[in-house]
Amino acid sequence: MTSLRDQVEAAVSVIRSHWKQEPGYAIVLGTGLGTLADRIEADLKLSYADLPHFPQSTVEGHAGELILGRLAGKQVVALSGRFHRYEGYTLQQVTFPVRVVRALGAHTLIVSNAAGGMNPHFRAGDLMVITDHINLMGDNPLIGPNDDTLGPRFPDMCEPYSRALVELAESAALELGLPLRRGVYVALTGPCLETRAEYRFLRMIGADAVGMSTVPEVIVAVHAGLRVLGFSVITDECFPDALQPADIAKIIATANAAEPKLAALVTRCLEKMD
Ligand code: HPA
Repeated sequence: MTSLRDQVEAAVSVIRSHWKQEPGYAIVLGTGLGTLADRIEADLKLSYADLPHFPQSTVEGHAGELILGRLAGKQVVALSGRFHRYEGYTLQQVTFPVRVVRALGAHTLIVSNAAGGMNPHFRAGDLMVITDHINLMGDNPLIGPNDDTLGPRFPDMCEPYSRALVELAESAALELGLPLRRGVYVALTGPCLETRAEYRFLRMIGADAVGMSTVPEVIVAVHAGLRVLGFSVITDECFPDALQPADIAKIIATANAAEPKLAALVTRCLEKMD
């Protein structure tokens, strides 16, 4: 079996054979950022299927692709299509694309997700900048032998989300006139949504929003030395004493409705970043 590092290098050399630029910024186009792909002035799109060791999506029409180009005057690499633990992928597979964008030269990672709001001040449709996270997946992408050339055995987690970038996002939101919440994101594997007792517990332990992604990617990003900026689109209200059955169609519609706001915010953030 080839090492993780060899696998990353194999994927990078295929990308490099097509595109010679160095993308400083990587963007995971999760729920809430899908249409940002259309704003990128793309030089090249590479299907995950053509990249060695990239996880292959089993869902037809959601194969996933790497978009290489420019956004807001910056060289970017965007990961259009992400993988989740609940689909059966290991967290090493889920986070492989983060390793690859790091090896391509990215120093900053922007991630987004759809999340349930547990902070009683939050409403469906709100945007939240992630200030911190809680990993309740019962798993960790760094379990196993550590390659010291990729990152440290025991990565520090005192500031996984750059405080400077949280502040930059808040000033970008202010400039655009967009209300922006701040909060702690907790990740569970899913795929089932949470019980009332679980929402009560998650709120009690300090989380503002809950979802099924992002944390594995951020752990690997920190391990690899990337600066991280994360956003959640609050798609539904998860208040244990007033809980309604989750309506997945409504959750997706809320995420889609918030997309232009988040896409504008991320674009403005990129303009302001150095
Ligand atoms: N839990 C509850 N509500 C949600 C989630 C979740 O994981 N994701 C989006 N809305």
